[in-house]
Amino acid sequence: MPHSRTSYATHPGEKLKVLIRSTAIRKRVIEVAHKITRDYRGERVHLVGVLKGACIFLSDLVREIGLETSIDFMAVSSYGKQKESSGQVRLLKDLDSSVEGLNVIVVEDILDTGLTLSYLLRVLQQRRPKTLRIAAMLDKPSRRIKPVQGDYVGFKIPNEFVVGYGLDYAERYRNLKDVCTLQLGQ
Ligand code: IMP
Repeated sequence: MPHSRTSYATHPGEKLKVLIRSTAIRKRVIEVAHKITRDYRGERVHLVGVLKGACIFLSDLVREIGLETSIDFMAVSSYGKQKESSGQVRLLKDLDSSVEGLNVIVVEDILDTGLTLSYLLRVLQQRRPKTLRIAAMLDKPSRRIKPVQGDYVGFKIPNEFVVGYGLDYAERYRNLKDVCTLQLGQ
């Protein structure tokens, strides 16, 4: 079936261009979930979503994993209205329960500079999980400052600011089904 052209309501002066279509996202999420299912056969996995961006990826991913699962969330300080990271990471919400002895997979929307995940990995490692891995829907390897690698990556993308499928700009556009690049007009 041909794709209908996607058109989204935008804020004045902001332009969206589809980068990854929802159909491709759905297919890739299933592939990633099946890989996790194979890698942890016979075990339970504990998914730790990083709020708020990862909530949509996590919801889709967990439903395709054929293992015993549990979920929890953490929140860290975000970019706010800026498109650039301040380099500072602050824990805004901690986990509800202990991860000691669990197979933890940190679920992120996007791996960019790696500052957020290197901070979270350090915090979580101290809590003695059985294993600790990263699932990131998107990866911008060219932006990396910290040497963090995703164990399960949906798509590698170029250095462009993207929104949709959980990712926001000033809290908007998280609900887009596609991942889109955002251009700010004058
Ligand atoms: P990092 O700490 O630089 O790796 O950035 C991680 C966080 O920055 C992500 O969880 C996102 O919330 C945010 N972020 C990075 N790149 C983008 C983007 O292109 N669009 C929206 N948010 C982004």
